[in-house]
Amino acid sequence: MRKAMFVGLFLIALVHMELENNSTRLRVKGNKIVVGNSDKGLRLRGVNLSWNNWWHQFYNADTVRHLKNDFHVNVIRAAIGVEQDGGWESNKQRSYDDLYAVIDACIANNVYVIVDWQTFSIKLSEATEFFTNVANKYHSSSYIIYDLLNEPDSSVPSWSAIKSYAESLIKTIRAIDSSNLIIVPTPNWDQYVKQAAADPITSDSNLIYSIHIYVGTHPMSYMDDAREALKTIPLIGGEIGAMNADGDGALDVSKFNQWIDFL
Ligand SMILES: *[C@@H]1O[C@H](CO)[C@@H](O)[C@H](O)[C@H]1NC(C)=O
Ligand SMILES: *[C@@H]1O[C@H](CO)[C@@H](O)[C@H](O)[C@H]1NC(C)=O
Ligand SMILES: *[C@@H]1O[C@H](CO)[C@@H](O)[C@H](O)[C@H]1NC(C)=O
Repeated sequence: MRKAMFVGLFLIALVHMELENNSTRLRVKGNKIVVGNSDKGLRLRGVNLSWNNWWHQFYNADTVRHLKNDFHVNVIRAAIGVEQDGGWESNKQRSYDDLYAVIDACIANNVYVIVDWQTFSIKLSEATEFFTNVANKYHSSSYIIYDLLNEPDSSVPSWSAIKSYAESLIKTIRAIDSSNLIIVPTPNWDQYVKQAAADPITSDSNLIYSIHIYVGTHPMSYMDDAREALKTIPLIGGEIGAMNADGDGALDVSKFNQWIDFL
């Protein structure tokens, strides 16, 4: 009898752990991100750390704790450079060290982390290697969000090319991680969201599509496009800048706030 009671307690502990784990798990429901088993929407708000190969000094637990405690973020985007100076192609070890330092700190601080493959063109075999490593290491954490390609430039003009790249990576990731969110890029530096909305990926769930906006460069009509796209697909603003797309120019706080309110 005593033995049966112990077994009973042990089962309760296990179920509880599962629920705890799942209470932070993100899902897509309709065009929203919801958390846990509820239908409660979750607003992700945070900061993009910028290229690790150039801004290595931010890829550590101190930065994550600072953003959590003082900025009150619940998401951080780790942008792992691929081609440029000291990026993943020439220094894999440092790229993974930077990324894993941020991921570990995010998990420890209950902050979601967007793992961004920071490139502008399709490199399927390299991306497959990268996401396989990350998924193998972190698939059991509910804080991981995979961002398949930062921004497709003019070398990847068509949605169909982006779509088949994404479908291939989704298959790779889903074989390891069955449920965490995956961010799918959209054409023209993540701005032509209506093209994705017209022909979304149906092979899997918990997919969310990328929109990047720099208010000094991009017209407000992109918000109408986003509103239209939201009828079919969920969107996430992985980069929203108050300046021009090149990072230069004056800050337009009013337009920036319109986008933040919209998101
Ligand atoms: C979440 O689940 C994984 C796999 O079952 C386990 O290793 C981990 O310890 C759990 N984490 C928490 C916070 O319960
Ligand atoms: C936790 O989430 C996983 C993945 O979505 C699911 O398979 C599992 O049934 C969930 N467990 C509980 C206890 O809800
Ligand atoms: C986000 O990160 C990318 C890549 O590191 C960088 O080019 C861009 O300027 C950043 N944008 C914002 C809005 O933080």
